[in-house]
Amino acid sequence: MPTPDASKSGSFKIGGEIAVNRLGFGAMRITGRGIWGEPADRAEALRTLKRLPDLGVTFIDTADSYGPDVSEELIREALHPYAGTLVATKGGLVRTGPDRWIPLGRPEYLIQEAHRSLRKLAVERIGLWQLHRIDPTVPRDEQFGAIRSLIDDGIIRHAGLSEVSVADIEAASKVFPVATVQNRYNLVDRTSEAVLDHCAANGIGFIPWYPLAAGDLAKPGSLLDSIARQHGASPGQIALAWILKRSPVMLPIPGTSKVGHLEENVAAADITLTDEEFAALDRAGKAQHEG
Ligand SMILES: NC(=O)c1ccc[n+]([C@@H]2O[C@H](COP(=O)([O-])OP(=O)(O)OC[C@H]3O[C@@H](n4cnc5c(N)ncnc54)[C@H](OP(=O)(O)O)[C@@H]3O)[C@@H](O)[C@H]2O)c1
Repeated sequence: MPTPDASKSGSFKIGGEIAVNRLGFGAMRITGRGIWGEPADRAEALRTLKRLPDLGVTFIDTADSYGPDVSEELIREALHPYAGTLVATKGGLVRTGPDRWIPLGRPEYLIQEAHRSLRKLAVERIGLWQLHRIDPTVPRDEQFGAIRSLIDDGIIRHAGLSEVSVADIEAASKVFPVATVQNRYNLVDRTSEAVLDHCAANGIGFIPWYPLAAGDLAKPGSLLDSIARQHGASPGQIALAWILKRSPVMLPIPGTSKVGHLEENVAAADITLTDEEFAALDRAGKAQHEG
């Protein structure tokens, strides 16, 4: 099998400036159970990270809260100084234990966390920093103002948002240029279609998280399963190929802690669905979403 190559997914310029290959990597899974503490197999997690440049993966998504700190620190250990790779991180969620995530959007906390990420990743400036959640207990403009000050102070270059509506993006855009939006999106979770269309119309990168999910569509004998068989691919690879074809602003970040799974995921960059396959999957995914 030829070496999988993420550049086959095409490229996108984040903030109109930083070019990355569209098929990226999500670094949430290189942590312990409940996204807490060290990964069960630290050596394999490091091997997975070190394999990324060989596979043309130039976009990594992480967060201060993954571990917390563990994901950012492993990325630094494996890949610093990140030649040609953009490590995007996030802040705005505190962790009080495994599987516990609490929004905290007080400006001084967001600023502190961006400074801490800068130090953990050992970079002069963070290329892309994203607000992990808008904290509903803090006025959103105060949170956006903190992001503006991080840009003005040179701590971060570009900024994005996560789990937001079109109205949130429009409000944030009055305070700083929104470079990316990261919402849950996959073949069978289409809640964010309007947000995706807004991003496409405005040159904003859309980062769909949980991209591999395909629900019942992945069952043996299903449409996804039969299309996967025709391509000699797995249902997960077809789910990724569908996401990539959905929009040129789409930047999927499948997450794994294993080299074998990483290689399989990146190989999806080389799968081209026909327009008919795309449309049939689109209809089936929407039907499952609505049903
Ligand atoms: N903004 C947000 O609020 C938010 C929320 C969640 C996630 N994210 C980001 O989005 C990224 C992706 O989301 P996600 O990790 O939830 O979903 P995902 O990438 O769709 O799925 C990851 C899961 O699938 C498994 N997997 C990956 N590749 C596989 C393969 N080829 N074969 C079989 N199993 C495979 C992984 O386990 P193995 O380790 O065993 O491969 C893991 O359990 C995260 O890493 C994170 O960076 C953001």
